[in-house]
Amino acid sequence: MPKKLVSTPPPRTHFLWWLAAILCTILTVAIIIAGIVIFIGYMVIHPRVPVISVVDAYLPHFNYDQAGVLVMQVNILVRSKNDNMKAHARFSNFNLELFFDGSRIAVLSTASPYEVKKNSSVDFNYEYTSDSMPLNPSQMNHVDESLKKDQVSFELKGGVRAQWKVGVLGSFKFSCHLNCQLQFHSSNGSYIPRRCSSRSK
Ligand SMILES: *[C@@H]1O[C@H](CO)[C@@H](O)[C@H](O)[C@H]1NC(C)=O
Ligand SMILES: *[C@@H]1O[C@H](CO)[C@@H](O)[C@H](O)[C@H]1NC(C)=O
Repeated sequence: MPKKLVSTPPPRTHFLWWLAAILCTILTVAIIIAGIVIFIGYMVIHPRVPVISVVDAYLPHFNYDQAGVLVMQVNILVRSKNDNMKAHARFSNFNLELFFDGSRIAVLSTASPYEVKKNSSVDFNYEYTSDSMPLNPSQMNHVDESLKKDQVSFELKGGVRAQWKVGVLGSFKFSCHLNCQLQFHSSNGSYIPRRCSSRSK
């Protein structure tokens, strides 16, 4: 008697595999949704994080004599802004460095941390007066060119830490960074305004 041919059906996928696949799908969807929620939250909150910016500046003195000695005075008005309607912001470790022709000439800092109320801002006006700076020939060239173009540039770099205390949620910490060029007309010392803010574009 011929043996009955038995074709074995392909093994059925075990239900545990289905379960695993479904769990993985749910997990993936959950991660994507969480990502979207975090992204939207970030987009909503981000424009309101504390911001520091240069709102005005002035170069009252920029004098340079034949011996190559430069004397200058720079005023910089820095605003710390808290657009949050619900929380005070505390700013600390304020530290901005002012560079001229690649060398650091001043450090702008605050003596202590400071508070900025809800939806308000605090301004600091820094006044830097240089000692007489003897220039080397390449710096003299650079200054000559600046005077010819009637345009003197400085760089301002650094930042501050900011913090919101939100009730029981604890605190949110941010760091604000500035990295900008400050330009002035050397003839009258007026500031050539341009964007100089820690707010990302
Ligand atoms: C926030 O400040 C701006 C101007 O400083 C003001 O016009 C606005 O009404 C303030 N908003 C709240 C909720 O206090
Ligand atoms: C300073 O000089 C520049 C160019 O010479 C001019 O455009 C600017 O209006 C002047 N600013 C003031 C406040 O006089």
